[in-house]
Amino acid sequence: MSQGLEQQGREQWKSRTGFMLAAMGSAIGLGNIWKFPYITGENGGGAFIIVYLICIALIGIPIMLAEFSVGRNTQKDAVGSFKELTPGKPWFITGIFGVMSAFLILSFYGVVAGWALSYTTKAISGDLLAVPAEKMADHFGGFIGASLGPIIWQLLFMGLVIIIVVKGIKQGIEKWNKILMPTLGILLVVLAIRGLTLPGSGEGFSFLFSPDFSALNAEAVLVALGHAFFSLSLGMGTMITYGSYVPQNVKLPTAAVGVSMADTGFALLAGLAIFPAVFAFGMDPGAGPGLIFITLPAVFEQMPLGQFFSILFFLLISMAALTSAISILEVPVAYFMRKFEWTRKKATWILGTIIFLFGVPSSLSLGAWSEFTIFGKGFFDAVDYLASNILLPLGGLLTALFVGWALGKKKSLEIGGLREGGLWGMLWIWSLRLVAPILILIVMASVLGFI
Ligand code: PHE
Repeated sequence: MSQGLEQQGREQWKSRTGFMLAAMGSAIGLGNIWKFPYITGENGGGAFIIVYLICIALIGIPIMLAEFSVGRNTQKDAVGSFKELTPGKPWFITGIFGVMSAFLILSFYGVVAGWALSYTTKAISGDLLAVPAEKMADHFGGFIGASLGPIIWQLLFMGLVIIIVVKGIKQGIEKWNKILMPTLGILLVVLAIRGLTLPGSGEGFSFLFSPDFSALNAEAVLVALGHAFFSLSLGMGTMITYGSYVPQNVKLPTAAVGVSMADTGFALLAGLAIFPAVFAFGMDPGAGPGLIFITLPAVFEQMPLGQFFSILFFLLISMAALTSAISILEVPVAYFMRKFEWTRKKATWILGTIIFLFGVPSSLSLGAWSEFTIFGKGFFDAVDYLASNILLPLGGLLTALFVGWALGKKKSLEIGGLREGGLWGMLWIWSLRLVAPILILIVMASVLGFI
C-alpha cells in the first residue's frame, strides 16, 4: 500500500525526447571533450579509437540497456531497484557502491568543471588570449594551484547543479537538458567545421582516422575500456536512476543504442574540433590533461576570430559538464529521498553541499596541499583513481552479472523489452553473462597490478 502511494507520486520524464536528451546530457560531458581527446592523443590516435568503439559496442551498450531496464522496471533509485528485484539478497550493495561513486566523482568533476567555467569568463574578458602562448602552461598551473580561486569557481558550478536538481525531473533536469543539449550540438559542429577548414588541418584528420596499430599496447586497451564506462555514465546507477523516470511505452534497446551512439559521435566531433587545429598550428597532440586548457588556448591565439571560438569552446565544456553533473547528483538525491523520506529540496542542498566540501581537498591537492598523498597519489588523483578505476568497473561488473545471471533470462528479456529466442536478446544476455564480465575483470586485475 505505502509502496503504491510512493509509486503514484513519483516523477516521470514528460516525453521520450526529454528522457533521451537527459541521458545524452549525462553521457556527454568532460569525458568527451576533455578526457577523450587527450587520451586519444596520448595513445596514438586512430587505432585507439577503434578499440574504444569495440568497447562501446560489446560492453557499453549492453550494460546501458541493463541499467535502463532495472530502473524502468522498478521505478526506484539505484539501491531500491536491486532490493525490489531480489529482496533479501545482497545485490543492493551494487547500488550503495553507486551512491558512493557519485559522491567521489562529482567531488572532483566539480573542480574541473569550475576550471572550465573560469576559462569561459577569461575567454570572454580577453584575459586568456592575452597570455603569451609559451606562458599558457604556467598560467594554467598557477590558476589550478591557487587556493581560493578554483574553489570559488567550483562552488559556483555546484550552485548551478543544485539549483537545477532542486527543481526536479520535468522542471529542472529535463527542461535544462532540452535547452543545453541542442545548443551543445550546434556549438560543437561549428567548432569542428572551423578546425577542419584551417589550412594544414589534414594531418590532424589522418591522426584521428588512419589507424596506426603499432602505437597500440595493452595499456591503451585498458584505458579505452575504462573510458567507455566513464563516458557512457555506467557503473554507478546514473542510468538506473534516469531509467526509473521512463514511462512504460519507451523502447529501451533503441534508447541505449541511441544514447551510446550520440555519446560516441560527440567524442569524435570533439576530436575533429581539436586535433586538426592542434596540428595546423604545429602543437603537440599528446599534451595530456592540459590539452584543452593549455594547448588549445595557444591554438586559439593564432586562429582568425580566435577569441570568438575560444568563448564558444569553453562555454561548450561548461554546459556539457553541467548536464553530466546533474545526473551524478540525482543518484544520491533519489536514494536519500526514498530511504530517509527527505524532500527533494532538503536532499539536494545537503548532499550537494557535502559533495562540494569533499571536492575542496581535491582542489587544494593541486597546490597548497600537494605534499599530502594517499598511496603515493595526491588527493585529486586518489579520488579519481578509486572511483573511475575501481568503483565504476565494479559497479558495471555487478550490474552485468545481476541482469545476466541473477534475474533469470526470462525476466531480464522481459524488462529489457527484447524477445525471447531472438538474436538481439541472445547477444545481450551473453554479453552480460560472459563478454562484459571477463573483459572488466581483466581490466581491473591489470589496473590493480595483478596482471
Ligand atoms: N559521462 C560523463 C562524462 O563523460 C561523466 C559521468 C560519469 C556522468 C559517471 C555520470 C556518471 O563526462
